[in-house]
Amino acid sequence: MALSTRPLENAVALVTGASSGIGSATAVSLAGLGACVALVARRQDRLEELAGRLRSAGATVAVIAADVTHQGEADRAVAECVTRLGRLDILVNNAGVMLLGPVVDAPVEEWERMVQINVLGLLYCTHAALPHLLRSAEDSPRGVADLVNISSVAGRETRSGSGVYNATKHGVGAFSDALRKEVTTRHLRVSVVEPGAVDTELASHNRPEILEGMRRRFASIERLTADDVADAIAYIVSRPRHVAINEVLMRPTEQE
Ligand SMILES: NC(=O)c1ccc[n+]([C@@H]2O[C@H](COP(=O)([O-])OP(=O)(O)OC[C@H]3O[C@@H](n4cnc5c(N)ncnc54)[C@H](OP(=O)(O)O)[C@@H]3O)[C@@H](O)[C@H]2O)c1
Repeated sequence: MALSTRPLENAVALVTGASSGIGSATAVSLAGLGACVALVARRQDRLEELAGRLRSAGATVAVIAADVTHQGEADRAVAECVTRLGRLDILVNNAGVMLLGPVVDAPVEEWERMVQINVLGLLYCTHAALPHLLRSAEDSPRGVADLVNISSVAGRETRSGSGVYNATKHGVGAFSDALRKEVTTRHLRVSVVEPGAVDTELASHNRPEILEGMRRRFASIERLTADDVADAIAYIVSRPRHVAINEVLMRPTEQE
C-alpha cells in the first residue's frame, strides 16, 4: 500500500513565533510534509534565514514580520499569507512568552506582556484566520482545516511562582476547547499541545534570579527538543479527515 509522505501538499500553514524554538522547528516539519508555510514573528532577519533554508530544500515560503499583540498586525499577517500563498489551511498559534516569579511584588509589566502575547495575540490571529480556515475546511482537497494552539503543562497544572503564566496557558486550553465545540462539525479541528520543558530561548527573557532557579530545576533533566514538539504538531495536522487529536500533553520522561 502506497502512503503519501507529503500529506500537506497544496496546503498552506501559518506559524506564529517561527523565528526560533518550537515555531521554527514546526515550520520545517510542515514544509517537509509538503505545506507552503507563512513564517510570522517580529525578528525578520531570523525569519529570512529560515526561509532561505526552506527554499533551498524546495519549499514555498512567505516571510511576514509582524507583532501579533497588535490586532492590525495579526490581521495583516493573515491577509498577507492568503494573498501571497493563496489560502490558509493550518494556523499554529505558537508565539508566546514565559516570565516567571512570585505574584507578590511582581513587575506588572511582565504580566501585561504575557497576557498580550499568549492570550490576546493568539485570539487576534485566530479571529483573523477563522473565515479562511472554515472556507478551506469546506473546499480544500483535504476537506478539513487545523488550528493548533500551543499551551503548556502550565496550562494543565499550577506551580508557585508561575501564577500568571499558568493563567494565560489555562486560558489557551479553555478557549481552545470551547472553540473546538463551536467549529468541529464544520471540519475545523482545534487542538491544543501542552509541552513540558523544551530546550529553546523561552526562559532567557526572565530576570537573572528567576533564570538561575529554572536552570537549577532542570539541570539534571534531558529536556524535550523543539523538534519533538514539532513532531507532535505534524502528527496532529496530518491525520485523516475524520480523526481529530484534541489535546497532546507531553513531558520530558524525567520531568515529574
Ligand atoms: N520552551 C518550553 O519549555 C515550553 C514549554 C511549554 C510551552 N511552550 C510554549 O511554546 C511556545 C513557543 O515557545 P518556545 O519555547 O519555542 O520559545 P522561543 O524560542 O522564545 O519562541 C517564542 C517565539 O514567539 C515569538 N514572539 C514573541 N512575541 C511575539 C510577538 N509579539 N509577535 C510575534 N511573535 C512573537 C518570538 O519571535 P520574535 O521575538 O522574533 O517576535 C519567538 O519566535 C510558547 O507559546 C511557549 O509558551 C514552551
